[in-house]
Order: sequence, then C-alpha cells, then structure tokens
Amino acid sequence: MNPVMAPQKTRPAGTVATAPRAARAPRREVDDRTAREAGRDTVVSARGVVKRYGTGDAAVAALRGADVDLRRGEFTAIMGPSGSGKSTLMHILAGLDSPTEGSVTIDGVEIGRLKDRELTKLRRDKVGFIFQSFNLLPTLTAQENIVLPLTIAGRKVDQRWLADLVETVGLADRLTHKPSELSGGQQQRVAVARALVGRPAVLFADEPTGNLDSKTGDEVLGLLRRSADELGQTTIMVTHDAHAASVADRVLFLKDGEIVQDRSRMTRGEIYDVMKSLEVQR
Ligand SMILES: Nc1ncnc2c1ncn2[C@@H]1O[C@H](COP(=O)(O)OP(=O)(O)O)[C@@H](O)[C@H]1O
Ligand SMILES: [Mg+2]
Repeated sequence: MNPVMAPQKTRPAGTVATAPRAARAPRREVDDRTAREAGRDTVVSARGVVKRYGTGDAAVAALRGADVDLRRGEFTAIMGPSGSGKSTLMHILAGLDSPTEGSVTIDGVEIGRLKDRELTKLRRDKVGFIFQSFNLLPTLTAQENIVLPLTIAGRKVDQRWLADLVETVGLADRLTHKPSELSGGQQQRVAVARALVGRPAVLFADEPTGNLDSKTGDEVLGLLRRSADELGQTTIMVTHDAHAASVADRVLFLKDGEIVQDRSRMTRGEIYDVMKSLEVQR
C-alpha cells in the first residue's frame, strides 16, 4: 500500500479552532442545536438552507430549504439536472457563498456567525477544493502549485506528507513542470494534491472530471475514492455524470433547488434511471 494512503494516526481532528472557545463557554442548549447535531460523525451540516437570487418578479430560488448532514469519511456525490442547484449547494456548504436563510456548520463551527476573516481562515484550514477547470497558477511549477495553500497560510510544509502525496498522485517526475507543460489529467492530479496537502476536514470537488477524457477521469475518481477509503477523507463531489457518482458512498439528487433523493451507494444504471426520471418530470 502506498504510504500516503496508510491510516494516519494523527488525523487532523479539526478541533483546534473550536476547542478553546468551547472550553471557555460551554455550548448553550438552544442556540447550538445545529452544532450539537453536527456531532462527532458529521463534518458539514446544513439546516433549512434557502438561496434566492434577485428580488421581486426576477427572483430565482436556487435552493428551497435544504437539510443535509455530511458524515466523516463519507464520499458523497451531488447529482441533478442542470440548474437544479448543485453548484449553489456546494458553494454554500463550503462557505464560499452564504445562504439567504438557514445555517451551515463546518466541523462544528456555525459559519454564519463568523466574521469574513474568520470564515476565510476556516476555509483555509478545513476545506480543500477541486474545480473542473483545475485553477492552477500558470507561472508556478506543479510543486509550487501544490504547496500554495500552505504558503499563503504561512504554514509549514510536511515534507513527508508532500512526498507521499506526490507519489500517490503520480507526479514525482513532473514537479518542476508548469501547468502548460502538463496534460489535463496531470493538471487535475496537481489540483487533487493541492487540495489534500493541508489535510482538510472536508474536500469539495465541482465536476472534477468534467474536463477530462474518460480514462484520465477514472484515474482522478480512483484517487478520490482511495483518499476516502484509506485516509478517511470526507469528500463531496458535484457531478452530472452517473459513472462518476457511482464511485461515491452516497448520492444526493437535487431537483429545482430541493434534495429529492438521498441514497447510499448506487450503480451507474440506477443513477442513470433516477436522473432520467428527474429530467422527464421537468
Ligand atoms: N449568481 C446567480 N444569479 C442569478 N441566478 C443564479 C446565480 N447562480 C445560479 N443561479 C440560478 O440558480 C439556479 C441553480 O443554479 P446552479 O446552482 O448553478 O445549478 P447547477 O449547478 O445544478 O447547474 C439556476 O436557475 C441558476 O440560473
Ligand atoms: Mg453547476
């Protein structure tokens, strides 16, 4: 087994930021219901999340009251027709966007209560992102891109972890290359390593295989699957590809801004059938 995927004794419990506060002021019964429900096994939780864009006649409800708990170590896929609210939900769960109504808790912290700076820090310390378009900096080498989140945060690079990650994603001989000198699959593997380098409590991926051919896409999916299995990496992936979603432990289906099905591991055929029925109902 690759060393990076060996079970970590020192998993980032992710309690660093909240522990001192909890020690000073015990949680109040009523106000912290969401935080309490988001107990040990829940990393991200949403309650009554509504997102509206615009006002009056032009208002669009992208989300209409989503409730969801994302459990530690679980690999969840978010599926749904185009425009059903997948990206909106993911951005809100990741603290990139704020809901019009409702609350979101990440690793025990209700993010609506945070100031901008605190939220930025929480995202930086607890959340990893992978985007469809890789989002690498063109002037930096692969290695510089991978460690960028730590560089920005002024955090030390754990050289062993970095070496393990690089080996796992198969980039050992590409570290000095710029993104333009790498294939799409290699660029996305850089992005996966960058997302994991800070050992995030939760990893979000928005259509991570959307720009890749099926073979390279499978490599990236395999990488995400192994990081969930062997590192216990909590992962949330938005996709409209039934094959990609069949790699996940759990599939949430959105339609018109609502979670209409919440299912455990499904085959590609089962996912395809649900998607077809959701498209037909439109
Ligand atoms: N910034 C925005 N302004 C106005 N409407 C938006 C905005 N972002 C998303 N929407 C609308 O919200 C709905 C959900 O969008 P989105 O979350 O991107 O769906 P999906 O990712 O499932 O395709 C769509 O109707 C979309 O047009
Ligand atoms: Mg989208």
